[in-house]
Amino acid sequence: MIVDIVAAMPRGRLITIEGLDGAGKTTQAAGLVRELESRGVAVRLLREPGGVEVSERIRSLVVDPALSVAPRAEALLYAAARAQLVEEEVLPLLSGGTWVVLDRFVDSSLAYQGGGRGLGVEAVRAVNEFATGGLAPDRTVLLRVGPATGRVRQAGRGEVPDRLEREDEAFFGAIERAYDAIAAAQPERVRVVDADRPPAEVLAGVIAAVEDLVP
Ligand SMILES: Nc1ncnc2c1ncn2[C@@H]1O[C@H](COP(=O)(O)OP(=O)(O)O)[C@@H](O)[C@H]1O
Ligand SMILES: [Mg+2]
Repeated sequence: MIVDIVAAMPRGRLITIEGLDGAGKTTQAAGLVRELESRGVAVRLLREPGGVEVSERIRSLVVDPALSVAPRAEALLYAAARAQLVEEEVLPLLSGGTWVVLDRFVDSSLAYQGGGRGLGVEAVRAVNEFATGGLAPDRTVLLRVGPATGRVRQAGRGEVPDRLEREDEAFFGAIERAYDAIAAAQPERVRVVDADRPPAEVLAGVIAAVEDLVP
């Protein structure tokens, strides 16, 4: 019995990168993947929501500024995109021994829909447990910036803000508080890295946050 369970358990590590818009997740996820590859770790970088065709199509719905998406529908759309990504890509990769670095995962929904939209972290957690079959990251790196930094970096990226990026300061304040509460509740899984620093310094912090997992 125990042997079966162990054999069915994922062998690659799942690392998720979290934080506010503009915190540097995409930048740091790419840096972390390069570092892991240089150490001989087989690793794939995936982003949420998206990563596979079904999820990319759901993403295009969720981010469309022309649509008015109800908060519960928004939470379920993200969960649906996540369910597809987990089933189609993440689990096969992990069970094949490949590490997966995810640019956002369940904690984003806990913070944005649970905190930001006010649906409640526990309600959103329950939906996501169902969506992921209970898959939890081995480590989560929370890139912490003040909301002002996120705003400035987001603007500097020169892209048109999507539906969620158009929200106000109160929304982002609630997200920040939810992220901090998650990190405080699960210090073993979630490592907070000060991301209000130059990219190379942040990357050193990110690498240090996963160092103990690297063989
Ligand atoms: N540590 C940093 N200092 C200054 N600018 C940064 C830093 N990290 C990322 N950036 C820039 O800020 C913008 C947002 O970064 P990005 O990685 O896309 O954030 P996220 O994926 O969290 O929204 C990009 O233009 C990026 O080049
Ligand atoms: Mg990004």
